[in-house]
Amino acid sequence: MTLGRPRLHLRETASTNDRARELAAAGAPHGMLVTAAAQSAGRGRQGRSWSAPPGHALLMSLVLRGVHPLLPLAAAVGVAEAIGADARIKWPNDVLLSGRKVAGILAEGRPQEGWVVLGIGVNVAVRLEDLPPELHATAATLGRSPAGVEPFLESLLGALDGALALPSPELLDAWRARDALRGRAISWAAGSGTADGIDGEGRLVVAFLDGGRTTLDAGEVHLRPDRGDSPPSPV
Ligand code: BTN
Repeated sequence: MTLGRPRLHLRETASTNDRARELAAAGAPHGMLVTAAAQSAGRGRQGRSWSAPPGHALLMSLVLRGVHPLLPLAAAVGVAEAIGADARIKWPNDVLLSGRKVAGILAEGRPQEGWVVLGIGVNVAVRLEDLPPELHATAATLGRSPAGVEPFLESLLGALDGALALPSPELLDAWRARDALRGRAISWAAGSGTADGIDGEGRLVVAFLDGGRTTLDAGEVHLRPDRGDSPPSPV
């Protein structure tokens, strides 16, 4: 397994993604891992922040060299595999337990320089009451002890290694087997419809009442729950 070495562990940093991006730009090798017990400015997708009580979450960023066309989906499959059979994926890569978000993934890269930083936050030992109040209704935790963060990291690295090595058709099948949105009503800034799986490029397929269909690209869309019958949106 090439993921996780070398490793830089920090007691506190602004964001492991920022640190890993600096290291990647300075030539860090494929697989280098940055972890932190605490982040002062953890970042999520689409400009959101990511909160985690110190020492109770896995906060990590991997430097990956070479472009994986389905990286965000592969990462979600790896995280879900490490969590277990009950984990579901809300397109494109929120990992849910019982409809609540237990892990988030933020991939950021400089494709022209051939690297991507894969940031992952997992609520391994987080007590939900220690999260900001606005997350209490939508977040989940694995409910392990702080001593369980490190063993979870080890199994996650193995699962990520496996998911990244899957041929695309198998990876897409593994993702589809955990699809949390299929058949659910969804809406976004420009429309609404019913989620109908993903296409071969990992775009979300949406069916409309009139029989039409469209596909959504992960970078451009922020899904909202619809009529309370969808899993919660990322927060
Ligand atoms: C999301 O769901 O919006 C993505 C959340 C990603 C959070 C992780 S925590 C480790 C890494 N460092 C960051 O600043 N963000 C990612």
